[in-house]
Amino acid sequence: MVKQIVREPGRTFSEFSLLTGLTPADCTLPNISLATELAGLRLRLPLLSAAMTSVTSYEMALALGKEGGLGVLPVRLPITEQAAIVERIKGYEMGFVEDSVCIERETTIDEAVRLVERHGHSKLPVTDRNNVFLGLFSFDRYLELDAPPGDLVGSVMLTPKEMECCRNPALSVEQAKQLLGEGRYLVVLDELDRLVKLAFRKDVEKIPVAAAISTHKGWQERVEANLAAGVDMIVIDTSDAHSEFVGEVLAAYRAMKTGVPICAGNIITANGARYLMEQGADIVKIGMSSGSICTTQRQKATGRAPLTALIAADRARQEFREEGGRYVPLIVDGGVGSAGDMIIALALADAVMMGGYFNHFLEAAGEKFDENLRLTSHESEMRWVATWGEGSARARNLDRYGHATAKSFFTEGEEGTVEFHGRLKPRLKEDMRKVKAALANTGCRTLVEFREQAVIELMSPRTLDVVGDTHSIRVGGG
Ligand code: IMP
Repeated sequence: MVKQIVREPGRTFSEFSLLTGLTPADCTLPNISLATELAGLRLRLPLLSAAMTSVTSYEMALALGKEGGLGVLPVRLPITEQAAIVERIKGYEMGFVEDSVCIERETTIDEAVRLVERHGHSKLPVTDRNNVFLGLFSFDRYLELDAPPGDLVGSVMLTPKEMECCRNPALSVEQAKQLLGEGRYLVVLDELDRLVKLAFRKDVEKIPVAAAISTHKGWQERVEANLAAGVDMIVIDTSDAHSEFVGEVLAAYRAMKTGVPICAGNIITANGARYLMEQGADIVKIGMSSGSICTTQRQKATGRAPLTALIAADRARQEFREEGGRYVPLIVDGGVGSAGDMIIALALADAVMMGGYFNHFLEAAGEKFDENLRLTSHESEMRWVATWGEGSARARNLDRYGHATAKSFFTEGEEGTVEFHGRLKPRLKEDMRKVKAALANTGCRTLVEFREQAVIELMSPRTLDVVGDTHSIRVGGG
C-alpha cells in the first residue's frame, strides 16, 4: 500500500500571478533594493548562477558577481582549478574606468540609450570637445524623469554639483575607496576640469563567489582549498540531499568551524528541508526535476513541481523557527527562467539559482556557435550557446547523482543549445527593473517586506490564456 497519495497537482511559478498593494509615493524603482542576506553573506541581487559546467566558470562568476549576484563554481572542476578561480575572483579589482564612452550635451537621449544598450554601462560622462566634464547621463535617472527620447542629454544629465568630483588625476584605488564611502561613484578630473577617470563602488568592492562540493571522498580537501582561496559560501551540490551522506558532511563541516556559510541541497519536501535545517545547513536549496536540461522525471519519475517544493520548504522553515530554530534562507533552483518566474519565486525564496537563464549569455561557460552551428569566438557571429546538464553524458557528474562507479551511471540531463542573448549585464538590468517594478506594485521596498506582504494567486488554465498572454489580437502589423 502506498503511504500517501497527494492529489493536489504540483505548481510552477508561471501558474501564479502577484496581486497589488498600496504603493507609497516614495516606493519608486531607485528606492527599491533587491539585496538579500544568505546566512551573513549579503548580496546586492538575489541571484545565483548554477553549479553547472556549461554555465559557471570564471567569466560568469565574475560578471554576475560584479552585478551583485553569486556565481557557484561547479564541483566537476578539479579542486585546484576551482580554488584558482575563487582566488582570481577574490583578487579582482577593476579599479577605475579610464576609457568610458563619452557623449556630448547635444547627443539625443535616444542615441545615449542606444549606447547604454550596446556597451552595457548605464552611466555615460557628458564632455565637451576639450574633454571638459559637463555631467553624467544616468540611464536610471532618465527612466525616472521619463523625458522624451528626442530631447538632448543636457536636459536630463546629473550636473557636477549633484555628484562627488575629485580633482586629483593621480588618485589611487585605495584613496578612491576611502572617498567613495557610501557613495556609488566618483568622478576624477584634472585641474582644468577635464575627465580623467570614473570610480564605481561596486568595482572596488570584493566580489562574492561560491564553490560547490559533493559528499564523496575528497570533499574536505575541496573545502580547504576553497577556504584558503577566500570563498564566500560552500554549496553541497547533490540531486537528492535528503540523505545521511549530506547529514554527515554537514556535521563534519560544522566541526571545522570555518565561519563560511554552507548551503545544502537539493530537497523537495518539508521533511527534506527540516532534515537539512536540523543537521546544521545554514541555507537550504530546493528543486528536483525542474531544471531546463533535466530528464530526471522522464528517467525515474522522481521530483516535484518547483513552486510546490518551495512552499513545502517554506512551511518547514516557519515551523523550525517557531520551535526556536534559526531563520534559514531558502534558494529555489531549477525552472526559474524569466523575470516573471523570479518575481513569484521571490515571494517565498531568499534567492533563486538559475542555469538556463544564464546559459544564454556570452559569459556562460558553454561554447558559442554561429548560425550554421560552427564554433565561433567572434561575438558578432554568435547565435547559439552549448548547454548540458550535470547529469548528461557530457558532464557525467557521478557524485551529484549518487553513483559510486561509472557503470551504474545513467543520464538525467540533456545536451543541446540555447539562443545567444549577448552580454549578461544589459539583459540582467532590464529583468531586475521588472522585478523592482513588481515590488513597487505591492508597495514593498525590500525583499524582506516582499516575502512578508506578497499575495500570489493561482490561475486556472483558462485564466492563463487570458491573463498570461495577449489574446484575441494578431500581434504585429499596424
Ligand atoms: P534551470 O535554471 O531551469 O536551467 O535549472 C538549473 C538547475 O538544474 C541546476 O542548478 C541543477 O540543480 C539542475 N541540474 C543541472 N544539471 C542537471 C541534470 O543533468 N539533470 C537534472 N538537473 C540538473
